[in-house]
Amino acid sequence: MKQLNIQTTIDVFESVKELDKNEQLLVKAAFDATVLAYAPYSQFFVGAAVLLENGEIIKGANQENSSFPISLCAERTALGAAGNLHPGVAPLKIAITARTDAEVIDRPVPPCGACRQVIAEQQQRYKKPIVILMASENGLIYRSKSIADLLPLMFDATYF
Ligand code: THU
Repeated sequence: MKQLNIQTTIDVFESVKELDKNEQLLVKAAFDATVLAYAPYSQFFVGAAVLLENGEIIKGANQENSSFPISLCAERTALGAAGNLHPGVAPLKIAITARTDAEVIDRPVPPCGACRQVIAEQQQRYKKPIVILMASENGLIYRSKSIADLLPLMFDATYF
């Protein structure tokens, strides 16, 4: 038997101030987007902000439903809005964060598995790596340079 060793690298920042100005702005936009959340069931208010190749920043927040499984994640509302408002323009970066009244979120908020797959589709579509910034409320930030680092062995349209 052989083994495949997959290595992932995540940049770690202790404070948002360690990021360059553009990424700071994107993280701030994600925090701002948490107020757009409709999350009466989880009370977990997620915000996402997408930087497009044309410089536009598009925000999104989770939109829940009493039929829980059809709720929409922040990342997917942001990417969906971006695709509708700026068709054909590549997303280059996405910042994600969350807020809840119960506690301070002291860990960077990562995209769920389904959102990783959706980010992967956009990355494959435009053939440009999408940088993912995962932010917490205490300043700690994780950054991956591509969805490949968060979704190794990803399935995409190259298989069929
Ligand atoms: N949620 C997101 O918006 N993005 C994720 O990547 C993880 C989960 C939302 C879905 C639901 O409204 C709430 O967070 C709790 O799961």
